[in-house]
Amino acid sequence: MWGSGRTAARAVGTVSVEEALGPMPRSGTPRAERGSDMKITVIGAGKYGSTTVQRLAEMGIASEVVMTDIIEGLPQGLALDMMQSRSIEGFETRIVGTNTYEDTAGTDVCIVTAGLPRKPGMSRMDLLDVNSKIIRDVAERFCPGSPGAVVIVVTNPLDEMTHLFREVSGFRHDRVIGQAGMLDTARFKHFVGEELGVSPIEVEAMTLGSHGDTMVPVPSLVRVSGKPLTELADAETIERVTKRTRDGGAEIVGLLKTGSAYYAPSSAAAAMARAVLTDSKEMMPVCAWLTGQYGIDGVYLGVPARLGRVGVAEVVELPLAESELVALRAAAEAVRSKCADLGKLGG
Ligand code: NAI
Ligand code: 2OP
Repeated sequence: MWGSGRTAARAVGTVSVEEALGPMPRSGTPRAERGSDMKITVIGAGKYGSTTVQRLAEMGIASEVVMTDIIEGLPQGLALDMMQSRSIEGFETRIVGTNTYEDTAGTDVCIVTAGLPRKPGMSRMDLLDVNSKIIRDVAERFCPGSPGAVVIVVTNPLDEMTHLFREVSGFRHDRVIGQAGMLDTARFKHFVGEELGVSPIEVEAMTLGSHGDTMVPVPSLVRVSGKPLTELADAETIERVTKRTRDGGAEIVGLLKTGSAYYAPSSAAAAMARAVLTDSKEMMPVCAWLTGQYGIDGVYLGVPARLGRVGVAEVVELPLAESELVALRAAAEAVRSKCADLGKLGG
């Protein structure tokens, strides 16, 4: 007779029944620290959205992750598949796939991935027209049911779509944030690490500005095991790494032929969501609304900020070289001008 619970453990050879048939070893965060009453919604169940859902569910920082898309069956099928991994991966987060916004009501953190990715040869800005219509639609449908949500936008062109979502939602600016700097910074660390033959974990770095041609990787802030990059690499190497970082998205689009990157991007968005949900106040490079920091006012731009339950708790001003500050201000004006174009598109 099979009993239940611990007292029923019986030996099968040298392995007890409990060991043989019991729960699989759990990975990741200890159970006691997992789960909460938090609800996350990911809008868009494509490559970026679905990978983000998986990462968030496995982190165990929310009791429920809702994934929605306009394609019928896609989020439901992906959710079912991911739910069936729970006993192996050892997480308890419920994953709900849906095509309606009713299921998203009461969301604490929302990640917006809905929209087209670029094709080889396209710039992110080529997506402005088509994705602005999608972002407008998403904001209008999502926001009424979740008026207290913090929203992380990832759809490209990133800075402009973050601006548009904020405009349509009417949310406080600090509750609408864009993800790009976390990804660009991770790429910067990767390329510096590869160039110097060290782990990216030993590299401290930061990219600022826009998620596009006016991205500002900041070599003066790069440290490798505490040492300035400028002491470890010559100007030519630094320029090569900086350029590869700026073109990092296009390099992957060119290799994939269809679609764009999603593994590192989903890590970036999930890390931001975790910082918000856990109110960690961790400093991260994100697309945030500026109100005079770095001498820039009234525009969304990539800067370091502390994230918590309010969204952006504080924009951090780091000391920059004069040329970097000039580049940051140029990026701000480029974003401002594109946001003005959005108005003309009616987006
Ligand atoms: P994908 O094509 O795999 O998925 C997009 C999904 O959005 C599709 O499933 C589509 O059905 C859905 N969708 C379209 N309109 C919708 C609507 N109105 N409501 C709900 N869902 C809708 O594309 P992927 O790879 O997931 O990329 C998504 C976006 O993220 C793209 O705009 C891409 O450029 C951007 N991206 C941004 C990055 C960043 O660092 N900010 C990095 C990588 C991608
Ligand atoms: C990326 O940087 C395309 O924005 C996307 O991978």
